[in-house]
Amino acid sequence: MSVAKLDVRPITRAPGNIRALFADESDRTGRLSAKLGALWIDVSKQDFSAADEKALLAFAESVVPSGLARLFDGALVNASEQRPALHWLLRTPIEKVPAHLSEFALKNAAIQKHMRQIVEAIHTGRAEELGFVQPLDVVNLGIGGSDLGPRLVVDALKPHCTPALNSHFIANVDGYALHALLPKLRPAKTLFIVASKSFNTHETLLNAQVARSWLLQNGVLEADIGRHFLAVSANVPAAVAFGIRASSVLAMFDSVGGRYSLWSAVGLSAAISLGWSNFEALLAGAHLVDEHVRTAETQKNQAVRLALLGYHNGNTLGHASQAVISYDERLARFPEFLQQLEMESNGKGVTASGDVLMHASSPVVWGGLGTNVQHAFFQAIHQGTQIVPIDFVGVINPDHPFRENHDVLLANLLAQSSALLLGKNFEAARAEITGLTGAAADALARQKMFPGNRPSSTILLDALTPSALGQLLALYEHKTYLLSLLLGVNCFDQWGVELGKLIANKLLPAVQTGVQAEGFDDSTQGLLQQIHQHRQQV
Ligand code: F6P
Repeated sequence: MSVAKLDVRPITRAPGNIRALFADESDRTGRLSAKLGALWIDVSKQDFSAADEKALLAFAESVVPSGLARLFDGALVNASEQRPALHWLLRTPIEKVPAHLSEFALKNAAIQKHMRQIVEAIHTGRAEELGFVQPLDVVNLGIGGSDLGPRLVVDALKPHCTPALNSHFIANVDGYALHALLPKLRPAKTLFIVASKSFNTHETLLNAQVARSWLLQNGVLEADIGRHFLAVSANVPAAVAFGIRASSVLAMFDSVGGRYSLWSAVGLSAAISLGWSNFEALLAGAHLVDEHVRTAETQKNQAVRLALLGYHNGNTLGHASQAVISYDERLARFPEFLQQLEMESNGKGVTASGDVLMHASSPVVWGGLGTNVQHAFFQAIHQGTQIVPIDFVGVINPDHPFRENHDVLLANLLAQSSALLLGKNFEAARAEITGLTGAAADALARQKMFPGNRPSSTILLDALTPSALGQLLALYEHKTYLLSLLLGVNCFDQWGVELGKLIANKLLPAVQTGVQAEGFDDSTQGLLQQIHQHRQQV
């Protein structure tokens, strides 16, 4: 993989004066905002001058066009695993697929046909004809990329989902998750989807075993177990060995990373809930953005712009974190989705060719739900000593009838980004103080002033439709890849999650039986001892 060889620290500068950038540039908002499909993307409140943009665009020109060409050509952009990254191809209409990728596209079309059969059979009450129970409850058992995408989609598109079905998502191995859910389900009417690209994820496989036992203990005959399970995996033999009928396993591709896999059969639970035409609209929305990213010139490419800002905030300005605030209840899980997408992709310490990074990789991505977070951590965002760039995400037209609530919500979104930009200076704060004079009034004014010049972007969706959501998610997927090109890292592998899994497996016998755990540090031995001593007492 050809990557930017960045072996020096980037040029850094102190945070600038964003208000002055607006004053200096007559059409700053026009230059730094754009409509893309159903998305209005405004980055003008970032600490991003015309000179910053020029320098970064020159840098981008050296890596972005070739990187995009490689992605959309199916080249081995995931060098450490010698794989292409073909998530975008899952949502490309078959007639637009480049000839050399048609084999993949045909396989994908066959899987989508199978998904569609399942979805339509369930929606028309004919699931029994396919050999499944006609479900009232569908439970997705999967974690990470096999959970966050479909879970977000089902939450976000609730008004588009069929009311005839309840969708549930169980990710955590913590038994409380299943323990709380199972009593609410009717075993004879429950369908489990075991989603695991590797089919080797301890949490998911254990939860699938618990689900199986629960069915057997609650009146389902061993011979009928297969009617309650579907699986989604790139490791079909492992799913079959686990006991899922071969005809009930929908294949995934090695060349689609877990956190980019919503568009594959991993989206089955979402497709079942949404219905096929809505799922197709989600794919079509994502494809619209793929086309923009593939064809737009670098300067006008919205995903490039977000990636440049990511690089700029993290490296030029040295901001260590990036918050994402959804001003829409339905997008409450969007920050969590982005956390995996961005941090698992770009949280790397070496370049794709193994050189130690001399610059910051992924910021800490975190966030929450507006307006709730205004009453929680926004104090620190406005007045704290760390500058946290924010992506505000809102929806112009709601799907509920409470118009005044929605107007208040939008007013708050705009107010926060504006307050972060404008701040309130000492004189203004001092002028508001009554009843105090001199040093006491000055001290209070200093506490009441806001520095302002705090950077943010705002993305407004016309409405939260399947297409608009597909556009939003694809935009951030491409931002993540483009940022990886600027950072010089491979965003499609995740070696950093392996060690913990390995050690958990080594420690399991010690937790289960109390045998001595060899080769562990004193702290871990002490904690194991506490667990045993306490269990023995109980
Ligand atoms: O632990 C990280 C990870 O490997 C993610 O990359 C992935 O999305 C998740 O686990 C689940 O993996 P799988 O789909 O193979 O069960």
